[in-house]
Amino acid sequence: MLQTQTDPASTADPGFLWDFWYPALRSSEIRSNNLATAMLLEVPLVLGRTSEGQAFAMRDSCPHRGIPLSYGHFDGKVLECSYHGWRFDACSAQCLEIPSLVSQDNLKVERIFAGHYPCEERDGYLWVYMSSGGRRAAGNAPGARLPEQIPAAPALAVFSEKYKLTHLTCDLPSHVDQGIIGLMDPAHGPFVHQSWFWRKRASIHEKQKQFEPIPNGFRMSPHSPSSNSAPYQLLKKITGEPVTTTIDFVLPNLRTEIDRSGKLWFSSRAAITPVRRDLCRIDFVAAWNIPFPAALFRIFGEKFLKQDQQTMIRQAEGLKYKPQLTLIDDADRQAKWYFALKANLLESRRTGTSMVHPMTGPVTLRWRS
Ligand code: FES
Ligand SMILES: [Fe+2]
Repeated sequence: MLQTQTDPASTADPGFLWDFWYPALRSSEIRSNNLATAMLLEVPLVLGRTSEGQAFAMRDSCPHRGIPLSYGHFDGKVLECSYHGWRFDACSAQCLEIPSLVSQDNLKVERIFAGHYPCEERDGYLWVYMSSGGRRAAGNAPGARLPEQIPAAPALAVFSEKYKLTHLTCDLPSHVDQGIIGLMDPAHGPFVHQSWFWRKRASIHEKQKQFEPIPNGFRMSPHSPSSNSAPYQLLKKITGEPVTTTIDFVLPNLRTEIDRSGKLWFSSRAAITPVRRDLCRIDFVAAWNIPFPAALFRIFGEKFLKQDQQTMIRQAEGLKYKPQLTLIDDADRQAKWYFALKANLLESRRTGTSMVHPMTGPVTLRWRS
């Protein structure tokens, strides 16, 4: 008889959103038959790619006695545990063989599964679908209950055949909620991101932006970007045509921005992924066909991200002591929408009813930045 044990430490709810895709690591981190590890939503994962090119993700824990499977040996198809040699099919996580069994044993080996999560490669990342079924089934998943239809993993929008693509990443020492509201915070720009190439503090002025509800999120309606941002001015100079920007936020953690001007375009996505309850990571990917070198873009992008990172490291110092916080209108309204979207999603899942969107229609927000 098989016994499964639950981990007593994993009882306090860390406020993660399950049943979504999250980027686990860069595709380039997995070469040939090497295994890689990552953590998403406090789940340790072992990831790899079969010799046929299929990416896979398993819980990095052997269902026998819990040693990380990443210490094992992978031959391109089968992962063999380093402790007692149980062998698992990498794509299904199904146990294929238990070397210690004798011929009289009638244990149904094929009924044993390692924890297993759907995995897809997109835009240079391995995305893992963190299903609550996989979590419950932890070590022993014959009937891991997955949604009938897992949506496709997110893909970055591109608008021409040829384009440049670059990736940036940055760890933030905070809960994913703080990472996300930091990402959508319009008022920190003039203070955190002052620089000659972007904008000056003195350029602060009143702005008015229209927002509209979209499924699981909200959109800053297409508009001409702010006149105090140098890159947008540059784009307009090159094409001579107006620039339009559309910025979306969708649960659980994605901010996408599309800037277009004539034939030229820039498309980016920032994902804030919960690693642990006290650690999240920004994975930023951008694509563009503007004549602008990727190396230069990376210098600016890294500087930008470092400014946010340093701010959040300092913020974490303050948040350690659980202070009371004050979210204001309108500059923090997007943060309020995020918390409401998240709460309403959880409520709809709990009750099995459709999700109530916190916005009833278009809204205009005004702030100075
Ligand atoms: S712990 Fe993996 S085979 Fe025993
Ligand atoms: Fe920022």
